[in-house]
Amino acid sequence: MPLPLRLLHVLAAIPPHGAVADIGAGDGQLALALAKRGAMRVIATEIGGSYPRLLLAVAHAPDAADRIETRRGPSLEPIQHGEVATIVIAGMGGHTIAGMLQEAVARNPQWIVLQPMQHAMAVEAAIAEQPCTVDAYDVCMDRGRSYGVWRLSRRSAR
Ligand SMILES: C[S@@+](CC[C@H](N)C(=O)[O-])C[C@H]1O[C@@H](n2cnc3c(N)ncnc32)[C@H](O)[C@@H]1O
Repeated sequence: MPLPLRLLHVLAAIPPHGAVADIGAGDGQLALALAKRGAMRVIATEIGGSYPRLLLAVAHAPDAADRIETRRGPSLEPIQHGEVATIVIAGMGGHTIAGMLQEAVARNPQWIVLQPMQHAMAVEAAIAEQPCTVDAYDVCMDRGRSYGVWRLSRRSAR
């Protein structure tokens, strides 16, 4: 199934270097696309009841499955400090994403890519509180709705 336009924009915002964590990966559409694009390692996470759906989706894609590791757990809990270059949090509400951002920054990735379904202002406010720089911002229209995509990098200490 082709990626929805909003996820194509998320995919385009993810640098093609290093491992990627896809938090709340749903049915794994983005994780599978990343693996097919050549990402050396993708960690796709899901909480509780939605985890079996993710497992099933990955199992049905044998050409990409060897580069995707699935982990169960809420928010950033399944990801270790320094484990991935990029953390992606997409397809959730802006307040949920805002609530995860500090934990994402604490994992010390090089980049964080965010794409809320609504309440983008909550994401903007959360970004302003973190030691991050917005190094790319994009908006797409998908089926009559607009979706912002932010790529953050860690603000360097001087
Ligand atoms: C609408 S889906 C989006 C899936 C995919 N990221 C996308 O952009 O298409 C939102 C997913 O986030 C997961 N989710 C919600 N809250 C979460 C949390 N606290 N930790 C991890 N996953 C969460 C849900 O289980 C659901 O599968």
